[in-house]
Amino acid sequence: MPFKLNINGRPATVDVAADMPLLWVIRDVLNLRGTKYGCGMGLCGACTVHIGGRAVRSCQTPVSAAAGAKITTIEGLSPDGSHPVQVAWAEFDVPQCGYCQAGQMMSAAALLAKTPKPSDQDIDSAMNGNICRCGTYLRIRQAIHKAASLATSHPRHAAQAVHSNTGSGQE
Ligand code: FES
Ligand code: FES
Repeated sequence: MPFKLNINGRPATVDVAADMPLLWVIRDVLNLRGTKYGCGMGLCGACTVHIGGRAVRSCQTPVSAAAGAKITTIEGLSPDGSHPVQVAWAEFDVPQCGYCQAGQMMSAAALLAKTPKPSDQDIDSAMNGNICRCGTYLRIRQAIHKAASLATSHPRHAAQAVHSNTGSGQE
């Protein structure tokens, strides 16, 4: 059955079963492979995307629940890699194997849109469901603090942090 999606600021119509997980649609139908499959059970956070600015597990979200809402994937976080989270991640060289990192960055971006100056406790609580087998947690925390300072010290970054989390993403 056809569903109209708005993904990274672009319309897309997909003809799939209503209960197909959004993750399958993103990766296998729309060919956006930045969002990763980890556990498929809502336990690891590798599949995190934004729907209406909220971080959600796309493996646990049926496509029917995302129709009509603004969906942002890692590809839509910024048009040119300049989202504060992307800049900070590069500065702290956060990834190791990299597999979990798209999900980590999407959770971090959603956190910063809601809480521009997060404490360590805010970070730990928001990032709690994103598992990293490589143990990059300390660098993730440093990078989130850095992204927060970039977003507040550079108006363009601040606007972008909010923009991406309204789901508009790439336009
Ligand atoms: S793949 Fe979705 S939470 Fe693990
Ligand atoms: S960087 Fe390897 S799982 Fe997180």
